[in-house]
Amino acid sequence: MKRAAVIGLGDISSIHMMCIQNNPDITLAAVCDTDEKRREQAPEGVPFYTDYCDMISNENPDVVHVCLPHNLHVPVSISAAEMGTHVLCEKPVALNAIEGKAFADFEESHPDIHIGICLQNRFNESVKVLKAIIDSGKYGKVCGAKGIVPWARSRDYYDSKPWRGKWNTAGGGCMINQSVHTLDLLYYLGGPVAGVKASVSQLLNYGIEVEDTVSANLFYKNGSHGLFMATNANYKNESIQISIQLEQAEFAIIENVLYQMRPDGDRERLAEDAKLAGTKFYYGASHGILIDKFYESIEKDDQEYLHVKDALMSICLIDSIQKSGRIGTYVELE
Ligand SMILES: NC(=O)c1ccc[n+]([C@@H]2O[C@H](COP(=O)([O-])OP(=O)(O)OC[C@H]3O[C@@H](n4cnc5c(N)ncnc54)[C@H](O)[C@@H]3O)[C@@H](O)[C@H]2O)c1
Repeated sequence: MKRAAVIGLGDISSIHMMCIQNNPDITLAAVCDTDEKRREQAPEGVPFYTDYCDMISNENPDVVHVCLPHNLHVPVSISAAEMGTHVLCEKPVALNAIEGKAFADFEESHPDIHIGICLQNRFNESVKVLKAIIDSGKYGKVCGAKGIVPWARSRDYYDSKPWRGKWNTAGGGCMINQSVHTLDLLYYLGGPVAGVKASVSQLLNYGIEVEDTVSANLFYKNGSHGLFMATNANYKNESIQISIQLEQAEFAIIENVLYQMRPDGDRERLAEDAKLAGTKFYYGASHGILIDKFYESIEKDDQEYLHVKDALMSICLIDSIQKSGRIGTYVELE
């Protein structure tokens, strides 16, 4: 039985606690939030702390789940790992690429500590099937990709948690917070990216610091192109769409279903994502799968989980898109 602890009892923590409680091999040993008012969110009998270092010293968890504002991901993860616990950290992997690279160096120099990052959409059934099709080479190479995220966030979303609208605490807006999953998949499925040209803007009128709308052209190393468009300024949350054009076939994920698109306009249903009851549909359904796999990797002492180094490209892409948006020209990925 592994002992879990959750740091940060905000919106996403309920999914982590639910997935922990759904897994018979994990027990929720303690929870922590600096906000004393969150004490009531601790499930009955689970100790509540306001200091995560005290919690780790007293409760000795095997794993801490870091569910904190973005600026705290790397410092808290590293400090917990230095105290000897494995770490499962929410996305994004870091506030920016420089911090992400330092985190990946830390991971490399601490091979006995497992540090996992919650980019759970990689475990969606639709993505797993599409990745296998691409890797099989059956339909040739990737020659185009598209990722669209037409989402909505209210003024209250930012007002109620002011860290979300600020550069120093969020590291950006709709890219780092919402569409990081889609950018990660455009890289994971589409292949290595050489550079980007982007437009980064604000359409909402909320007085936040960070971007709410982005369009970018991803220039893949193999010469193909990827279109990425993301916004929080839609009037409602609509399905993410991801399309991958291979040399001899086209595939699309729409409303969590993977289709093969036929030249005559028909489409064949190939796979569908599981649903996770009690969560927002746009989180995707794979937190549970990612969390179960992470604990399994600790139990089996293997490397089968989503590492810091796997998540690094998503933050490098975001930094390059932000830079291209600022200077208005093509930016090569470092
Ligand atoms: N993977 C996903 O699909 C997904 C979805 C939503 C949010 N997230 C991520 O989850 C993280 C948290 O987002 P949220 O919306 O739940 O935020 P939130 O603001 O609702 O919750 C953060 C909590 O952390 C607490 N906190 C702040 N500093 C602390 C500290 N030093 N020690 C202990 N607690 C502290 C706050 O009091 C707050 O309760 C973010 O990284 C976000 O990007 C991921």
